[in-house]
Amino acid sequence: MAMYDFTIMPDRHGHDSIAVDLQENDFWVLPQGETKTGFDKIPLWIADMNFPTAPCVTEAIVKRAVHPIYGYFVPSDEYFDAITRWQKESFDITDIARQNIGYENGVLGGITSALQVLNPAHEPVLVHSPTYTGFTTQLERNGYPVALSQLCPDENGILRMDYDDMERQIKEKRIHTALLCSPHNPSGRVWQRWELEQAMELFRQYDVNVISDEIWSDLTLFGTCHIPTQSVSEDAKQRTIAFYAPSKTFNLAGLVGSYHIVYNQKLADQLRIYESKCHYNDMNVLSMHALIGAYSSDGRVWMEELKKVLESNINLVYSFFQNEAQGVSLRKSEGTYVVVPNFENWCKVHGRTFDELLRSGVEVGVLWRDGRQFHIPYGIRLALGLPTQKLEEVLHRLKQYVL
Ligand SMILES: Cc1ncc(COP(=O)(O)O)c(C=O)c1O
Repeated sequence: MAMYDFTIMPDRHGHDSIAVDLQENDFWVLPQGETKTGFDKIPLWIADMNFPTAPCVTEAIVKRAVHPIYGYFVPSDEYFDAITRWQKESFDITDIARQNIGYENGVLGGITSALQVLNPAHEPVLVHSPTYTGFTTQLERNGYPVALSQLCPDENGILRMDYDDMERQIKEKRIHTALLCSPHNPSGRVWQRWELEQAMELFRQYDVNVISDEIWSDLTLFGTCHIPTQSVSEDAKQRTIAFYAPSKTFNLAGLVGSYHIVYNQKLADQLRIYESKCHYNDMNVLSMHALIGAYSSDGRVWMEELKKVLESNINLVYSFFQNEAQGVSLRKSEGTYVVVPNFENWCKVHGRTFDELLRSGVEVGVLWRDGRQFHIPYGIRLALGLPTQKLEEVLHRLKQYVL
């Protein structure tokens, strides 16, 4: 029997949420269009969830918050123990020592520091396409040329890395840094061991260092499992800077509390020295306690129940687009909570432009995300971290007013 309630969707208006209170800012491109009166805004565009976090997280924060002194501190043993235990129980990784773990003020912040450390000459960086927008933005802002390598469907329609293209670009563009997303946002692929092995073998051959963003590693679905990039070989372990966080899994993005795992002592030292220079990369005491609460046995039970709900939501959307919306194609995500249906044929068949389609969704409160931001023309990304009943309402509105 389920212990936790994933049918509740608290009203987020006025509670510090860009998802529904769409404030202009210089990072996110907001959904375009006006929602008509009579329709509430259902946020599916940004990668956070509409579920309350696990009770054990709130309890850990509140327990710390009631002690009314928030002075200087250093991360506790409990914090490091929580991470090593979580990594062991989740991915069977048993060799992480305390010195391999370092706090990061957001995964994107960590990636940006890692880029500076690994690639001070600003050589091109290999990234797969479709691409998480945060990668593109940070690479562009920091003056890194982006070498996009397209993921390609195999004979079963599964998106795979194109190793020949990766090799060609590595050689031609003299690439020495790759940015991997594992599991992959927005395709929802959970890379299999052989896929990572093959990529890491290529990187070994051409001496390419790897930044591995594993922020989605907990949210593997439908029997898939996450393989940490560093675990595929001793060489991979030494050439990879990996990033993790409890933020996607437990809906904690607003608390900020990510971390890196680096085994290579030289890289770890370089990263630490680089990050210490600005003095901005220090943990917040409440996010430390949030992580400890999340990475607990209660947190794991909550997460397993969440994953069942996400699977149902993905199944629901998949069968909706298969059966009720002719011309829309969708690959089923294996992990994350994002899906990207493609409306190219639908637009052609219905004589509608893609921009009209996007706006017509927003008009009825379906706040979805233009896939062009991820290099997917005619794709629309939907983040499915919401109660199934509310998702049914979304699909009902799409059927009745949009498609
Ligand atoms: C792949 C990936 N990396 C990083 C982030 C953002 O991480 P953070 O908020 O810790 O910077 C996201 C958020 O959607 C993401 O999907």
